[in-house]
Amino acid sequence: MRAFFIRLCTFVFLSISTLQAQTPKATGAVAHLPPPKAVHLKFSTQGQVCLACHSASTPALVQQWKDSKHYQHGVDCYSCHKANPGDPATVDHYGQKIAIIVTPKYCGNCHARETDQYEHSRHAQATQFIGSLDNVLGEVVEGAPAVQSECVQCHGSKVKYLGDGKFDSSTWPNSGVGRVNPDGSLGSCSACHGRHSFSVAQARAPETCGKCHMGPDHPQIEIYNESMHGILYRANRDKMNLNSTTWIVGKDYTAAPTCVTCHMGGTPDHPEPTHDTGTRLSWTLRPAVSIHQADWQNKRASMQDVCLNCHASGMVNNFYKQFDDSVNFYNAKYGEPSAAIMKKLADTGAITSTPFDTQIKWDYFEMWHHEGRAARMGSAMNGPDFTQWHGFYEVAKDFYMKFLPEAEKLSPGVTKEVVNSPDNIWLKGLSKQQIQQEIDYYKKRYNQ
Ligand code: HEC
Ligand code: HEC
Ligand code: HEC
Ligand code: HEC
Ligand code: HEC
Ligand code: HEC
Ligand code: HEC
Ligand code: HEC
Repeated sequence: MRAFFIRLCTFVFLSISTLQAQTPKATGAVAHLPPPKAVHLKFSTQGQVCLACHSASTPALVQQWKDSKHYQHGVDCYSCHKANPGDPATVDHYGQKIAIIVTPKYCGNCHARETDQYEHSRHAQATQFIGSLDNVLGEVVEGAPAVQSECVQCHGSKVKYLGDGKFDSSTWPNSGVGRVNPDGSLGSCSACHGRHSFSVAQARAPETCGKCHMGPDHPQIEIYNESMHGILYRANRDKMNLNSTTWIVGKDYTAAPTCVTCHMGGTPDHPEPTHDTGTRLSWTLRPAVSIHQADWQNKRASMQDVCLNCHASGMVNNFYKQFDDSVNFYNAKYGEPSAAIMKKLADTGAITSTPFDTQIKWDYFEMWHHEGRAARMGSAMNGPDFTQWHGFYEVAKDFYMKFLPEAEKLSPGVTKEVVNSPDNIWLKGLSKQQIQQEIDYYKKRYNQ
């Protein structure tokens, strides 16, 4: 075997004169070939050619691959990078037709189930944000370069191949979840699977999702970190068995749930994990007013199938009651009334149809898109500080101190109905009893 490699490397380096300068480094790399393992390693001839150069030119990359399951199973550089027939981004690389971007279509050659699920998920659709307010904000208000360096890094770019192994630098590198690839496939498996180790342990870690699921408009990792679930995960990381081949809650691990446990992971009743992250969501917590997902009862039942491995049904049902109450309350007290006022302002011409051109539009946007989401998402995933101080507190402050006064200024009388509703009657003053309670509380506690 070793003799073969040395002959092979000699062949490669003698025949490629431009790379002669690397010869000593590359020959050195032969000495670093992996020790024989229990598994039988069978690499393709072409794959061995890749290794002969890349062990020297990109040694850390090769080492990451050597640490992978792919290495153990004989999946080499060529197995993944060998160009699919018809891929417009095929490049001639030292005599081999390769693809630089290994798209989901390539992974799908061996992992059809995961790829199929993924391609049907919202993750794969994540570049379809043209028309959203977020897009106007980025593309028009902030300025186009903002979209390039922010939005598409999470959502995905439309990769433009320029030929000759080169890509438009404004579109690649990129590993957004909904990347549009030159071969027409959607997404990037390395959004979650760091290359070239492609380790499931890394993909299962909450930090992987937190790369994108963070910040004021979708603070999921922050909420998780605050929750008892996140605390238990950090305290018990060594018991989480993240490297296990199967990862079934209640069987392979018990200490805590992660994002993956609840949104993708296998359960004793449904042991196959899923790459379609939307299959367990009953609400959508993103829009100005939350609505149920299609087929929401079944989706909810499949989330509860996860919870019930660690909790009893009484607690899970009550949790969902609290969560629903929180979403319905948000809708009824803030979401629907503020949407109705915005509509009236638009219908009567008090505001233009141009997004973000007046203060009230910014305040309204932040109310639902940041604070209102934090409130709802905090309730969904047990992060009370997000439900309250980043959520309902901010919503209430902006609703009463900014939104209603601004709307009233733009169109006197437009808020009347809302202000007179039972939810907002307190604006007319607290009752005597409520005021006395407040005085008593501060006297007793702080003598003030
Ligand atoms: C003769 C040496 C040699 C061989 C053989 C070789 N490579 Fe490379 N490859 C290189 C070098 C050197 C670079 C880095 C070029 C650079 O940094 O600009 C590279 C770059 C790459 C890139 C990145 C291209 C880019 O523009 O980002 C990929 C992907 C790649 N090689 C894959 C492979 C695969 C797969 C094989 C086997 C089929 C292979 N290479 C065989 C030397 C080689
Ligand atoms: C399991 C499939 C797989 C295997 C095996 C694999 N690659 Fe890759 N490789 C990828 C993916 C995925 C990308 C990311 C392309 C993208 O989306 O931008 C990539 C990108 C690259 C790049 C360019 C990106 C960079 O970081 O510069 C190089 C170079 C490369 N691979 C070399 C290799 C070499 C050498 C081997 C063998 C040691 C190898 N690959 C094995 C999937 C694979
Ligand atoms: C030539 C076939 C082949 C290709 C192409 C391929 N894989 Fe694999 N992959 C395997 C085999 C074989 C295994 C090991 C057996 C198993 O776990 O199913 C594996 C295992 C994995 C694992 C589990 C790793 C672990 O730690 O348990 C992940 C994740 C993975 N592949 C992702 C990918 C991604 C992403 C791509 C594309 C960038 C890809 N694979 C391309 C054959 C392939
Ligand atoms: C840090 C990563 C990240 C950045 C940067 C980012 N997004 Fe997002 N975006 C997400 C995530 C994650 C979600 C899904 C949140 C959820 O489901 O709660 C999302 C949701 C959305 C949605 C809602 C989709 C729906 O179905 O309701 C739109 C629209 C959107 N983003 C557009 C944009 C635009 C435009 C930009 C740039 C101005 C941008 N995003 C920047 C990660 C990001
Ligand atoms: C949103 C993050 C994410 C993306 C994107 C993603 N994966 Fe995964 N993948 C995971 C997680 C998490 C696991 C571990 C699931 C488990 O065992 O609970 C996993 C596991 C796998 C496995 C191991 C077998 C299994 O099903 O557990 C394969 C193979 C795999 N992914 C392939 C792919 C391919 C191919 C793509 C692109 C089409 C892809 N993944 C995209 C997160 C992701
Ligand atoms: C590279 C960025 C990125 C990573 C990493 C990522 N996501 Fe997402 N995720 C998004 C974006 C963007 C959306 C919104 C897509 C849309 O609606 O357009 C989203 C949406 C979702 C949704 C809502 C799906 C639906 O059908 O409504 C869930 C749940 C989700 N992601 C879970 C996860 C989990 C769990 C992980 C980690 C294993 C993860 N994501 C990793 C970017 C990411
Ligand atoms: C204990 C289980 C659990 C954990 C852990 C968990 N989630 Fe959730 N997640 C939920 C539930 C329950 C919902 C609401 C489901 C519904 O609508 O019925 C939800 C909702 C979501 C949504 C949809 C928000 C929307 O816009 O509609 C996203 C995205 C999400 N979670 C991402 C994550 C990420 C990322 C992590 C880890 C940082 C995580 N979740 C951790 C249970 C969990
Ligand atoms: C892997 C096990 C596991 C899974 C799965 C899991 N949890 Fe938990 N959960 C726990 C543990 C352990 C605690 C901590 C109990 C304590 O406070 O001592 C906890 C705490 C909670 C709490 C806080 C209870 C309190 O007293 O403050 C709620 C609410 C909760 N879980 C709801 C859920 C829901 C809803 C799901 C499913 C979407 C879920 N959990 C999934 C293990 C799990």
